[in-house]
Amino acid sequence: MKNAHQNIADDLVARGWSVYPDYLGANVGLSLKQRLRGLNAEGELTPAGIGREDEHQLAPDIRRDKTYWLERRDETDLSYLRLMENLRLDLNRDLFLGLFEYEAHYALYPAGGFYKRHVDALKGEKNRLVSTVLYLNENWQAGDGGELAIYLNEEDETPVTVVSPHFGTLVCFLSEDIPHEVLPAHKPRHSIAGWFRCNASSADKVDPLR
Ligand code: OGA
Ligand code: MN
Repeated sequence: MKNAHQNIADDLVARGWSVYPDYLGANVGLSLKQRLRGLNAEGELTPAGIGREDEHQLAPDIRRDKTYWLERRDETDLSYLRLMENLRLDLNRDLFLGLFEYEAHYALYPAGGFYKRHVDALKGEKNRLVSTVLYLNENWQAGDGGELAIYLNEEDETPVTVVSPHFGTLVCFLSEDIPHEVLPAHKPRHSIAGWFRCNASSADKVDPLR
């Protein structure tokens, strides 16, 4: 019997993306959801933009989510970071990817929120290698929107799959290769987006983790 991580690794090799339902135990998922809700209630979420570091700018025409980066000093955040550390080790063992570290943020898309089609890393930049998205929405219905549309090629008009952001589903894909978009959500949509990165720091350039 293959375990979850072996299935994810196989899918990443075979087609560059993987959708794994019920990845999380309900308890972990609920505390993550509660933490995200609490951060939102305290006004801790900030509108997300595009571009890293100096080039960072708000872009409400492109994306409308609010985010908060997970912290190792928070027990709940740490529980998820530990799960992803196990995934990192398993993917490295199976795929020799050289995933070096992981960064992740909570994301809340308000009703009407979306994220237009994009890739998570520029080709050759060798920064983000594998993207992960964990969904935290109980009772998400067919008409609630907010699906993740995954495309195989830049020029494709039809997605290869459309994923509902159901509670506990984990999506993984190759950050440089897989264009994707979040379709408009009709009610608040909760998730954690994360990225496995390689070590992109060199003698003359530091590439800091969040
Ligand atoms: C992202 C992203 C997808 C999703 O944050 O870069 O594409 O389904 N998220 O939330
Ligand atoms: Mn993305």
